[in-house]
Amino acid sequence: MPAAPFAERARFDARDKVLGRTQFTADIQLPDMLYAMSVPATIAKGRVRSVAIDEAMKIPGVVRVLTAKDFLAPIPPPRGATGMAAAPAVPTIVPDIAYRGAPVALVLAESIEAAVQGAEAIQATYAPSASFSPLITSEGAAREPSEPVKAGNAAEAMARAATIVEAEYECPAQHHNPIETLSTTAVWSGGRLTIYEATQGAQVVKANAAKSLALDPAIIDVKSSYIGGGFGQKGTAQRQTALVARAAMLTGRPVKLVMPRGQVFHNATFRPLSRHKIRIGADASGKMVAIEYDADHQQSRGGQFPPQYHESQPQMYGVADYDGTTANVRIDTQAPGYMRAPHPHPASFAFEGVVDELAYKLGKDPVAFRLAHDAKVDPVSGHPLSSRFLNECIAQGAERFGWSRRSQAPGSMVLADGTQVGFGVACGAYPAITSANIARLRVSADGSTRFAVSAHEMGQGIRTVIAQALLRQLDIDPAKLDLQIGDTSLVPQHLTAGSWGTASVLPAIDAVAAKMKAAIEELLAGRQIDGNLHRKLATVRRPYIEVEVSTLAPGQEERALLGLRAAGYALAGPEYPAFTTFSYIAHFAEVHVEPRTRRVRVPRVVSIADCGRVVSLRTAVSQVRGGVVWAIGSALREETEVDPRFGGWLNNDLADYVVPVNADIGDIDVSFIDRPDPLLNATGSKGLGEVAMVGAAGAVANAIYHATGRRLRRMPIRIEHLL
Ligand code: MOS
Repeated sequence: MPAAPFAERARFDARDKVLGRTQFTADIQLPDMLYAMSVPATIAKGRVRSVAIDEAMKIPGVVRVLTAKDFLAPIPPPRGATGMAAAPAVPTIVPDIAYRGAPVALVLAESIEAAVQGAEAIQATYAPSASFSPLITSEGAAREPSEPVKAGNAAEAMARAATIVEAEYECPAQHHNPIETLSTTAVWSGGRLTIYEATQGAQVVKANAAKSLALDPAIIDVKSSYIGGGFGQKGTAQRQTALVARAAMLTGRPVKLVMPRGQVFHNATFRPLSRHKIRIGADASGKMVAIEYDADHQQSRGGQFPPQYHESQPQMYGVADYDGTTANVRIDTQAPGYMRAPHPHPASFAFEGVVDELAYKLGKDPVAFRLAHDAKVDPVSGHPLSSRFLNECIAQGAERFGWSRRSQAPGSMVLADGTQVGFGVACGAYPAITSANIARLRVSADGSTRFAVSAHEMGQGIRTVIAQALLRQLDIDPAKLDLQIGDTSLVPQHLTAGSWGTASVLPAIDAVAAKMKAAIEELLAGRQIDGNLHRKLATVRRPYIEVEVSTLAPGQEERALLGLRAAGYALAGPEYPAFTTFSYIAHFAEVHVEPRTRRVRVPRVVSIADCGRVVSLRTAVSQVRGGVVWAIGSALREETEVDPRFGGWLNNDLADYVVPVNADIGDIDVSFIDRPDPLLNATGSKGLGEVAMVGAAGAVANAIYHATGRRLRRMPIRIEHLL
């Protein structure tokens, strides 16, 4: 039986946040703390020849400067290791400069001002490489084919197609800009290293710091209780962590670094530029029958972020024959990485654009065209799709949006002042991945409850989801519920990313609640005691009761827990042994293109998501709004531009990296199908964070085509492209 819908609660941490009580890593203050500032390399590629620290050391308050000679050789990955265990340690401060902005020194001082002044006084000399390749079009860019994704025989099916559309789309490099920048504070005390870091992967940080600093991971604790925005930037090991930790070990004092945004642009991962060449063939009846899709992206020389742009496109529209290739184009940049809806966002912009082009070429309504392509089966694995309400999303969205008021011809909807109006639709899917989990629950007679589980709060609302699910099952005092998440000292922490947080925490809550109830029943031995669990414990004079559980994804083996303990990775899906699961969304956008300025406005968007059972409506709606806002930013504003002369990024601050402001955002009407996935977990909840964004940029671009007749295939679409 599907679980009943969830009752609505306010955000678990709303009051603390409003009162400014929430402790973010960038806000930490510790007694005797040193402030650190990193010094970025000013060459794009080469070697550090010397770092003169004398001038910096003369500045009052500067205590010490760390350079490459202060770091040990990292521990190489174990022989024969695979997956994440095989990843090399993130470099510390090393003489080899692989990208502009890499750290060459770390200044430690009694105040932030002294640290900044000290960093400015560092004199480094370099032996630059004779040449470097900053762009994918540079000489020296190395194209490297990667894993293809295939189903059926696309070439054969394409040869039989009656109508073919082919186009090339591009998504530029983009940077996440969480308000809290990269920040690490380290404490070395009593033979233990404690790292407070704004990270989505406390266990990842622990494993990597151990490798980078040649330490036993058993002496490292990582704590990340609240993150001021993650979006994937804080999901992989960060460059500054080991620097700050080493500084704490060498000085014996707590050390804190909050990286300036300009350095974050250069040292953090980013969304690489990607190119998408897509051909879709339709048969004589107008049914899509073949897809050929070649994708590549910008990659660093040693980077590992895979170009897997076929994560959800093969499953979208019931096309059996799919041929997808991928490639890295290696250049001299820092490693790119995961940024919200990492692959499906750019892939859907391209793919939903080509689907739209095909619909117009066939003379079909883009909504009706998509509705005619429902899917039951994953053509890649051959498994059934376990729940899919995409057509319900499209139909409901069209209704709420008023799609029937649209006239098909591009440029046919014009307001009295000449403003061109466009309606656009596009859809998205995102793999429903699940992580193994370990949870520990302690209920005390004094009324308090401590729940330690693997999860990170980056503002998406996971604490609210956890509290809501736990309080639904256990009669405990919500006012004294302490959620210990993002902390490796109590239970191992999975990387919280890829929209698997909610679906991974709910089974652990079910299991821990059942075990707690059973333990209390056993303790009471048949006695009937009125009141909540705390009261029951008090009556039988037990100070507390604690239970621990571990949970696995469908079909996952017990040894996945080893990966969770070692490095925070224990993932399964979207292909499970007998089924494949995605979350889905349909976005509808209205655009207005002003007649003289050609400025594009987006007065309203309607988004309907199928993320299975909605656990916390308030945070879910907020997730989708955030995803749509970001997609509008991506479609119309965002691009990080390479400086081809010197390497590095030109617009490396929030003044020049243009994102939408409130005045750019109109009405965003969000709704959910809210029907449980029967196979993924008992609650039937799938992921939402990433799918929220998937397709929304495509809906805007498709609406611009409808408004103007201009098919613009590169993001961002700006005024100059519509002149
Ligand atoms: Mo997400 S980009 O996997 O944090």
